[in-house]
Amino acid sequence: MDETAERLLSAAHECRERAFAPFSGFRVGAAVEADDGSIFAGCNVESASYGLTMCAERVAIFSAVAAGRKRIKRISVVAESDELTAPCGACRQVIWEFGGDIPVTLSNLNRKTETIRMSELLPKAFDSTYLK
Ligand code: THU
Repeated sequence: MDETAERLLSAAHECRERAFAPFSGFRVGAAVEADDGSIFAGCNVESASYGLTMCAERVAIFSAVAAGRKRIKRISVVAESDELTAPCGACRQVIWEFGGDIPVTLSNLNRKTETIRMSELLPKAFDSTYLK
């Protein structure tokens, strides 16, 4: 694993500690590398009105966008599960729109990791190219 991938994973692990998940107890951390090399992390933030919950992946991506970065080069996701946690369907859509066919590194607390590409997670994705 290269140095940036290590930094992304560390950022995701660290941010996972700040997850607000009192309802599910399932804490998730994510980190993205933007196209200028900067890193943005996110954690899941739950609501008592469950449907308002925001996943770690989208918090990380929206932080990057809020800081002026519109493209991401890769993303890491960390959760406590033996079977590595992959992004939910809503996050797959958002990752695709801001990153396209980027690598997604999944990891758990034992630092087991696996990297898959977005085209495997979201084949035949819908995006803005269809709107033109
Ligand atoms: N969650 C994420 O943050 N990312 C994922 O990829 C899967 C699910 C969160 C949402 C919710 O707070 C908790 O995990 C249980 O679904």
